[in-house]
Amino acid sequence: MLDEASFMKFANGIRKKMGFDMSGYKLVRMKRRVDFLMRKYNFDDYNEYLRILDKDPSRQKEFFDRITINVTEFFRNPDKWKRFEYYISEKIKKERGGIIWSAGCASGEEPYSIAIVLEELRAPSSFRVLATDLDPNILENAKRGIYEEKALVNVNSSLRSKYFKKLDDGRYQVLEKARRRVTFKRHNMLSDPFEKENIAILCRNVVIYFEMDAKEELYKRFSRALKPGGILFVGGTERIFNSRKIGLEPMEPFFYRKV
Ligand SMILES: C[S@@+](CC[C@H](N)C(=O)[O-])C[C@H]1O[C@@H](n2cnc3c(N)ncnc32)[C@H](O)[C@@H]1O
Repeated sequence: MLDEASFMKFANGIRKKMGFDMSGYKLVRMKRRVDFLMRKYNFDDYNEYLRILDKDPSRQKEFFDRITINVTEFFRNPDKWKRFEYYISEKIKKERGGIIWSAGCASGEEPYSIAIVLEELRAPSSFRVLATDLDPNILENAKRGIYEEKALVNVNSSLRSKYFKKLDDGRYQVLEKARRRVTFKRHNMLSDPFEKENIAILCRNVVIYFEMDAKEELYKRFSRALKPGGILFVGGTERIFNSRKIGLEPMEPFFYRKV
């Protein structure tokens, strides 16, 4: 049966067996994604699917790929990245170094975009990027830093030649000078502790999957994880209501500053 009560039991089983807690996520969305896989394998019982997942790592990978949407690109919303560059240039003038955290970094295009910004601004090497995601498979790809050309639509030819090497198969690899700024780590932003004192946090196009309560708690925690004056860069449709209450001053669409 693919009813909601059975799905809740399945979600509980996933938490126990795979350590992934779906409770902060929008239930309907999650169920729709899982049901897609159930139909693909002609399962009509979540228990059957749970047993297969428990035994078969390749099915686990597919499951994670399906429930975590990994779509991303370099400099997504390019005009906003100009603003981000400005805010970071201000930080570089004032701070001796610091961490910029890309939370929900997917396959790495976002943290490498930050690294390119830092290189362009000639930031000292003490300015670093922490890149985290829930999905361990995607992080392995991210570390390699190899991308199809379509991921680079917003990267102009000058930046392409400075920070990418074109491989024989037509793909592009981020050069070491940008890669060395970035540390990738598996991290669940709904349950794992946060590193503190970040000078900026990017969390873009992730919270759309979260329930309101989980989202509100997350923004509070992001606020606490920022240094005073630190910048929070969110996705296009993501507004933080009453942000001042949690110590975040709205600067302009997409940007908040820790008071
Ligand atoms: C659509 S991508 C966004 C990538 C990038 N931030 C951007 O805007 O282009 C969403 C990413 O969030 C990750 N994600 C979802 N839930 C998460 C959680 N609880 N903790 C950490 N990452 C999560 C997914 O694995 C996925 O890679």
